[in-house]
Parts: sequence; C-alpha cells; structure tokens
Amino acid sequence: MISKRVQGFTESVIREMTRVNNQYGGVNLAQGMPNFAPPKELLQAAHRAIDGDFHQYAITWGTPQLRKAIADKYLKFYGIEVDPERHVTVCCGSTETMLSTLLAVLNPGDEVIIFEPFYENYGPGCIISAAEPVFVPLEPPDFSFDPDRLAKAVGPRTRAIIFNSPNNPTGKVFTRQELQLIADLCLKHDLLAITDEIYEHIIFDGQTHTPIATLPGMAERTVTISGISKSYSVTGWRVGYAVASPEISLGIRRAHDFVTVGAPHPLQEAAVTALTLPDSYYVWLRETYQAKRDLLRAHRSRRLRRLQAPRRLLHPHRRRPLPPALPL
Ligand SMILES: Cc1ncc(COP(=O)(O)O)c(C=O)c1O
Repeated sequence: MISKRVQGFTESVIREMTRVNNQYGGVNLAQGMPNFAPPKELLQAAHRAIDGDFHQYAITWGTPQLRKAIADKYLKFYGIEVDPERHVTVCCGSTETMLSTLLAVLNPGDEVIIFEPFYENYGPGCIISAAEPVFVPLEPPDFSFDPDRLAKAVGPRTRAIIFNSPNNPTGKVFTRQELQLIADLCLKHDLLAITDEIYEHIIFDGQTHTPIATLPGMAERTVTISGISKSYSVTGWRVGYAVASPEISLGIRRAHDFVTVGAPHPLQEAAVTALTLPDSYYVWLRETYQAKRDLLRAHRSRRLRRLQAPRRLLHPHRRRPLPPALPL
C-alpha cells in the first residue's frame, strides 16, 4: 500500500529515543532538544506577533524583515554579503530547508556524498529526491576524514557534498584545512557544498566555526543552511533558512513553495528578535553548554576509569564480571 520510496524508511532513531526517554524519565542526549527556556525577549516577541496582524500566509520564501535579519547575521558573524531579496529562503526548520534544497538541485540518479555519522534526515532526503547517498566516514578519535577516501567517493554522477559542522553527533568542528579540501574537490569537479550549520553557536573549547561559503570561490556553489531551533531553544517553532546563489535560491524557493508553502508567519516575525539578540547571549549559550559538556565528560571519564581498573583494586562488592566497556 505504500510507495517503494518510503518502504525502506524506519522511524527516526533519535526521535524514537526521545519517545522512549519520555516513557522512562531518562536524560535525553539522543535528540538535539535544548532543555532550557527560550530567551524571554523571544517569547515576548512571539506574544506580540500573535496579538498583531501576522495570521495569514507570509511571502512563501520568508518575510522581508526576517530575510533582512538573516542577511545582517551573516555579515556580522562571518563577513558574508547576503542580499535578502535574492540569496535567502526561509523554510519550516533546517530540515525542510535541506529537503527543499535537495529537491531543487538533484536529478534522479545523481549521487550525494554524506559524511557519517550524520543527522539521519539527509539519507531519506536524498532518496525522496531520487538521488543516491554515498557515505564517507569521519574517523574517531578526532573525527577527521581520509582525503583520499573522499576524493575516491567522487564519481561522474556526484552532484553535491553534504556535511554538518559543528557536527551532530560527534561535536566535531571542521577545520579550515578540511574545509579547503572539500572546497578544492567542489571546484575541481563542479560540485555543490550543502552545509548544515544549525549548531553554529554551540561550540566548545574556544573553537571557531567557519562557513565553507567564506572560502574563495565557494559562495556561488554553497547552500548554507541554519535555523533558530537549537540556538534559541525553539525546536518546535519550525523556522530555518538557506543562503545560496540567486539561481539556486530560486530552485529552493520553488521546491519549498510546493512542499510547505511557508514557515509560520508569527514565528518568523518573532525570529527577527532571536537573530538580533546581543552578543552576550551567545557567550552565555557557549559557556552553559561548555559547563554541561565538561560535567558529562568528567563523569564519563571517572566511570570509564572505574570500569577499566584492575579487578584487585575493586571493592569486594564489585567482584563480579565487569560490564562491557562503554563505547567511546
Ligand atoms: C544536525 C541537525 N540538523 C538539523 C536538525 C533539525 O533542525 P530543525 O529543527 O531546524 O529542522 C537537527 C536536529 O536534531 C540536527 O541535529
């Protein structure tokens, strides 16, 4: 009864974990679901928008105010000149932005290189677009990739490389050198870079995030995707966006128009407030996540040390078969 296209899709693993977690009251590290309240200015802006006159469809590719705020953000954080009229498309979350992008740029039979592990929607997104995903691993401990393996993955049907930096689930931030390797391949083989930068403000240990679109020659061949879900703790609002060349933006807008028509109008209005929060907000965000990450890591290291300790050092009550070591 269901199409061949969706027959192979299983329930999303991360979203299933959230459901199971809610059932048992665990600590949910599976889904990128912030557990803090959105900034109060943002909530107030949403209330004002609901009380205001923003109840009908907005322009399908995003309200002018939000597209302007997105353009201002790219200039402020990364020095990228973005024209809100021609380069920006607002969609229902970065997830729909990715799907509309894939529908816009892929033809049946195209191949798309995806670094794994990856946010699981990319695979089905390629399949819905009748393209084939080809996977290249990010290798522990630092989750770098083998440049030869990446180069060998490029074939005559390759159209794009998708990657996510900062990366879910590894936390890896692609280095400037790695970005240059990807850019060189894109330029050599006429490929697109499609980047999911939804975690751009959640970054540890003083690292910095560099959008690949800032590398020479890459602005025209990159679709930079992000959204407000994670940075402002509003995953349920469903507001995301793409920045791309005018030609690609036109394609994304066309696909998006027929997929969802538009993102929620009042929440686009409120999203302007999110994107214009002061710098101190991002400092707070980074420091809060860093403290949580450090706490978790310290706890895990202690636990690992206990698990790996020679048995004679263990207290008598622990003299039983050790559980398997935790996966790193
Ligand atoms: C890497 C990555 N991209 C995108 C998303 C979804 O973002 P959005 O809420 O904007 O669709 C997630 C959610 O977990 C994610 O981890």
